[in-house]
Amino acid sequence: MQQQTRPDPRWGEWSPFHDPRILANFSVRPTDVLITTAPKAGTTWMQQILYQLKTGGVSDFDSIHDAVPWLELPRVDRTWPTQLEYYETLPDPRIFKTHCTYPQTPGTHSRGPQNPYAPAARIILSSRDPRDCCVSFYHHVMSMTDAALKHVNLQRPRSFDDYFTDWISFGAWYRNVQSWWPHINDDNVLWLRYEDMVNDLDGAIERILGFLGWQLASASRCKVLEYCSFTWMKQRAEKFVTRFESGESMFKPGGFIRKGQTGDHKVLLSPAQEQQILQRARELLPGDCLRFVGIT
Ligand code: A3P
Repeated sequence: MQQQTRPDPRWGEWSPFHDPRILANFSVRPTDVLITTAPKAGTTWMQQILYQLKTGGVSDFDSIHDAVPWLELPRVDRTWPTQLEYYETLPDPRIFKTHCTYPQTPGTHSRGPQNPYAPAARIILSSRDPRDCCVSFYHHVMSMTDAALKHVNLQRPRSFDDYFTDWISFGAWYRNVQSWWPHINDDNVLWLRYEDMVNDLDGAIERILGFLGWQLASASRCKVLEYCSFTWMKQRAEKFVTRFESGESMFKPGGFIRKGQTGDHKVLLSPAQEQQILQRARELLPGDCLRFVGIT
């Protein structure tokens, strides 16, 4: 098939995190599982959960990002066609991470009675309170190395207030949730909340297994729960941190798997900033969506 070198704008604009040519030319398999999140909503955790469920509990892997690649991420060591060729070599079921909105996500069409032959991927979303995502992303940027900031064209914010203004105006959390909300009941979509996963990881795992139709031997369940716990992941942060192709970490020690709590925004957000985040959500999202994500 002819490759689209100038893809339709629906696939988004090129950035150091997002190559629309990869998305437009990606060949979806019905066995694919795509993790779709707004930044800091538990993406890496979900990568680890799905990898552990697929393998039945494996602890001796080097990097979760090799096992569960970031689909649309441009790479320095491979051209986008080479990256697509690499994806073709991965065995089923392939698992990918993305930060794409609904229109940018390959394989989103659900296999309902209208289109029974559509090659839909299974999509798992994790959403998180925008106030916690905002504060978590601040720590994310502050703990990036100088080389990593330069690579992705970001500057370290001079103050939390400067950072906050940029976070609100960039609006990734709102775009992500707004675009996915109409699809929450699609038959190929499972939407989990970070807060529920923190309260009951075993319950979240049960829902994922049921949705994917995967089995987990009861002897493996304890291992999976242990390897997906915050403590286990924090102690082995080197497996989860993002790296340059050279292997050099993009983060200072301790910055990536950080605190793993709900309500941590209270430490940094002023009451006015908190209201600004909530007010924007109320302007952009319907009431049932606000209630679902925990905003009243
Ligand atoms: P905090 O910065 O609030 O600690 P993402 O992977 O989307 O970038 O999300 C990162 C957030 O998920 C960080 O939040 C990180 O600590 C948290 N996280 C990672 N692994 C976790 C786990 N096993 N349990 C709970 N939270 C986890």
